[in-house]
Amino acid sequence: MKRKVIIDCDPGIDDSLALMLALSMEELEVAGITVVCGNSPVEMGVSNARKILSFMGRLDVPVFAGAETPLKREYVNALDTHGSDGLGESFLPEIPGWERTLSATGFMAETIKAGPCSVIALGPLTNLAVLYREDPLAFSRIEEIVSMGGCFRSHGNCSPVAEYNYWADPDGAALVYEAMENLGKTISMVGLDVTRKIVLTPDLLEYMKRLDPHMGEFVAKITKFYFDFHWQQEHLIGCVINDPLAVAYFADRSLCSGIMAYTQVERSGLSMGQTVVDSMGFYRKPANALVLTETHPLAFFRLFFSRLLGIGEPHLELLPALIKEEGKCGAFLGCLPTTWQEVEA
Ligand code: BDR
Ligand code: CA
Repeated sequence: MKRKVIIDCDPGIDDSLALMLALSMEELEVAGITVVCGNSPVEMGVSNARKILSFMGRLDVPVFAGAETPLKREYVNALDTHGSDGLGESFLPEIPGWERTLSATGFMAETIKAGPCSVIALGPLTNLAVLYREDPLAFSRIEEIVSMGGCFRSHGNCSPVAEYNYWADPDGAALVYEAMENLGKTISMVGLDVTRKIVLTPDLLEYMKRLDPHMGEFVAKITKFYFDFHWQQEHLIGCVINDPLAVAYFADRSLCSGIMAYTQVERSGLSMGQTVVDSMGFYRKPANALVLTETHPLAFFRLFFSRLLGIGEPHLELLPALIKEEGKCGAFLGCLPTTWQEVEA
């Protein structure tokens, strides 16, 4: 049976790959795409979502514009990571025909109240926080929330302790985690602990191009900037594709595992955006999060390739040779040392 989902996102290169995956999965019915300010400003995010829908032949999926600024702090985009067009400077042609209708939260409320629907959040949690404030009943009826964001044992990507989505709107993230606590529910936190292990390498991209030149070239086009960014920033040959793991995990629970823990997001100061995960139960509070700590890159890429390329997993016989799951194994295998010091050691 298909599960209905709203994809709340800030496309964004890896958001775009996640959208492509979601649209390729028969397990999911993408009811709509809601856009939040994050990697790119909302208008650009809407335009990028439509470019992806057009490429996927799915312009029937509606797109709604959401929050243009975080709840409290100033907006900081991530165009340095995603390119000046938010889509890796691919400068794909604009897709005309979008009209502003319902707001993102208006669409969410209407859809959630109409029947079971989950939200896969791939950007800052501002839209979900606004929904909680505007319509707590609708928020409480969300079947499940899976959020790409935060980090537990891994270091951050915006500060030593904070990941971009929660750092960009710490108040929004904190409110959503508090709301889950109040409702006695849990949010699935697909954080950097697991997403850092999902590295699209040149080998994998080349394999994709060989298997399906149309899809492979498109992915290459929108990820080239991201590859360059990762080389400059992290000395990584490849790019970490965070957001598709949240979509994949939503459909297949065997891809990640983790711990249930009470989790709070820091709103300000040195550790702004940090996810404080009470794994030892110091606060004696019930868990409001399933914090994912382990993943299986090979299983993820099997699913990613098979769905995106529309081929059966048995036909992906080269994948195991291109992905090594354990240990430090060098640039082309997707598990790199993380600092220059380690490289030199
Ligand atoms: C997250 O931030 C964005 O740059 C990515 O799209 C992802 O959602 C990773 O920190
Ligand atoms: Ca994102």
